[in-house]
Amino acid sequence: MSSTAPNPVTPAAPGAAAQPEASYFKRHIFFCLNERSNGQECCAQHDAQAAFDHCKAAVKAAGLSGPGQVRVNKAGCLDRCAAGPVAVVYPEGVWYTYVDNADIDDIVQLHLAKGEVVTRLLTPPDMGR
Ligand code: FES
Repeated sequence: MSSTAPNPVTPAAPGAAAQPEASYFKRHIFFCLNERSNGQECCAQHDAQAAFDHCKAAVKAAGLSGPGQVRVNKAGCLDRCAAGPVAVVYPEGVWYTYVDNADIDDIVQLHLAKGEVVTRLLTPPDMGR
């Protein structure tokens, strides 16, 4: 079976590297909202849902939500539980460990809006599960 629909990653010229179309969203932030019922450490124990809700509202209030801008997403365990609560921003792949709404506001106003990494909130690179 063949299709004549255009391929969004078709190379511009033979031998040229494929170039994807512009990303639908400029940035994504994923919040781990994982909850464990067995008592093990998880981000839900640290009010991750409230931080997610606050981030969604702050992004919307700042006029940053929508296509070409920022998307705030829920995620399951991101496998960095020992550093939780965590969130990660793509495409930069920057991990944050936050404590309160002021931290979320800094991530929104600096990183999501301007692309500036909030260094004081960076998750230690060696902290995993
Ligand atoms: S429970 Fe949040 S990173 Fe694993």
